[in-house]
Amino acid sequence: MNALTQDSLKAALRLGLASDTILIEGGKPLHGTVDVRGAKNLVTKAMVAALLADTPSVLHDVPAIADVNVVTGMLGAYGVAVATDGKGTYRLDPKNVERAHFAEIDALAGESRIPILFCGPLLHRLGEALIPDLGGCRIGNRPINFHMDALRAFGAVVDKSYEGIRLTAPNGLRGANIELPYPSVGATEQVLLTGVLAAGTTELRNAAIEPEILDLIAILQKMGAIITVEPNRVIFIEGVDRLDGYEHRAMFDRNEAASWASAALATRGDIFVSGAGQKDLTTFLNVYRKVGGAFDVREDGIRFWHPGGELQAVEFETDVHPGFMTDWQQPLIVALTQAQGRSVVHETVYENRFGFTEALNAMGADIRVVPGGIDTPTRRVPRRPLEQSAIIQGPTPLTGADIVVPDLRGGFSHLIAALTASGRSRVSNLGLIGRGYERFTDKLTDLGADFELVD
Ligand code: EPU
Repeated sequence: MNALTQDSLKAALRLGLASDTILIEGGKPLHGTVDVRGAKNLVTKAMVAALLADTPSVLHDVPAIADVNVVTGMLGAYGVAVATDGKGTYRLDPKNVERAHFAEIDALAGESRIPILFCGPLLHRLGEALIPDLGGCRIGNRPINFHMDALRAFGAVVDKSYEGIRLTAPNGLRGANIELPYPSVGATEQVLLTGVLAAGTTELRNAAIEPEILDLIAILQKMGAIITVEPNRVIFIEGVDRLDGYEHRAMFDRNEAASWASAALATRGDIFVSGAGQKDLTTFLNVYRKVGGAFDVREDGIRFWHPGGELQAVEFETDVHPGFMTDWQQPLIVALTQAQGRSVVHETVYENRFGFTEALNAMGADIRVVPGGIDTPTRRVPRRPLEQSAIIQGPTPLTGADIVVPDLRGGFSHLIAALTASGRSRVSNLGLIGRGYERFTDKLTDLGADFELVD
């Protein structure tokens, strides 16, 4: 194992992306195999959980993505020794946890949302947490009120300063009764990471139950936590005095799997996504099948392909698990531009997640975004105040264009659109895609894409 120093991290943050711009000659079906490893939205939280233990943790299948490097850097700043074998196994030793300089944390946190999840573990370990202003994708306001309200319920005192947020727990953290206004993924993780070492029992109602959260609960159980997932989104956490390190293989990245599946469909290609599992993708697979995509579930992954003929228009709403994930709509919408008829996608999780459609329209798509959403006879998810609907009229041929990547999932959709379009596209700001997609340019090479990285 090689210890990760701040210098090696800075180099790794570039993730081998020598260039931030890609020229794509589109219109060629993608064919081949890609590997999908541990989920970004689990691995980063599992790494934070290591901070709660008295002994080292070992995490397998960690992808080489920028968000992992951000968390590694932050853990390092707090004295956690992080080492890797360079093949995806990380060892995290929290023996020497110490305070970090705020400026260092602020510089390391970058665009990531993960720093907020350090609150509970830092309060337990150090009695204080300083959290910088948070980044993340530009897909909506992304407030942190649920997190702060939950931490206050545990007994934390929250002070806002010009540089960020300072939390203390003068009387320690005690189990709490918390009901989330919405089943937020991050706020549920916040409660889990705080409740496991709080004195007494915590009851969390209206919790998120995404598979990544259940995997995090499995990790915490390995560490010694007592967490019960009850029906109707209720989670009980019985606080314990101490936790040990864990050894765990991270669940696969469902968002990456759905992205490559959509790329196969949009480009009329055939991609075997090695490492993808059916159980955590059933909602996606249902919609994929209704659009006309073909898939074959195998022991070691799922093959996705365009079976020929026309794709069909569909209507669906994004929702919390077990609904259709908000992160899946952007790549699939590219395929829907190639489907026959009028598709409708209702985005109910974030208020600004259709911005990426502007670039698709510039490439020839016919997508109308309706702020406030629309009512249709077939929709099932109740209306939310900030929702939007996208109406996609297809099929429309796409032609190459110049695109600046706006956010992680929208950016990957732009890559798919460029691969689908006839002619040449120039896609810049690729670094954002590297936050969540491991070695994606190597994978494009393996799939036979025609592209060139330029300065
Ligand atoms: N919300 C609040 N207040 C809060 C927290 C959330 O109003 O304090 C709202 C959000 O604004 C949003 C909704 O609740 O409208 C759901 O947000 P949630 O907290 O569930 O999202 P998150 O934890 O910030 C994670 C993933 C996202 C993924 C969502 C939904 C990570 C690091 N991020 O975000 O992933 O879209 O859950 O599943 O786990 C991505 O990977 O590209 C990505 C954006």
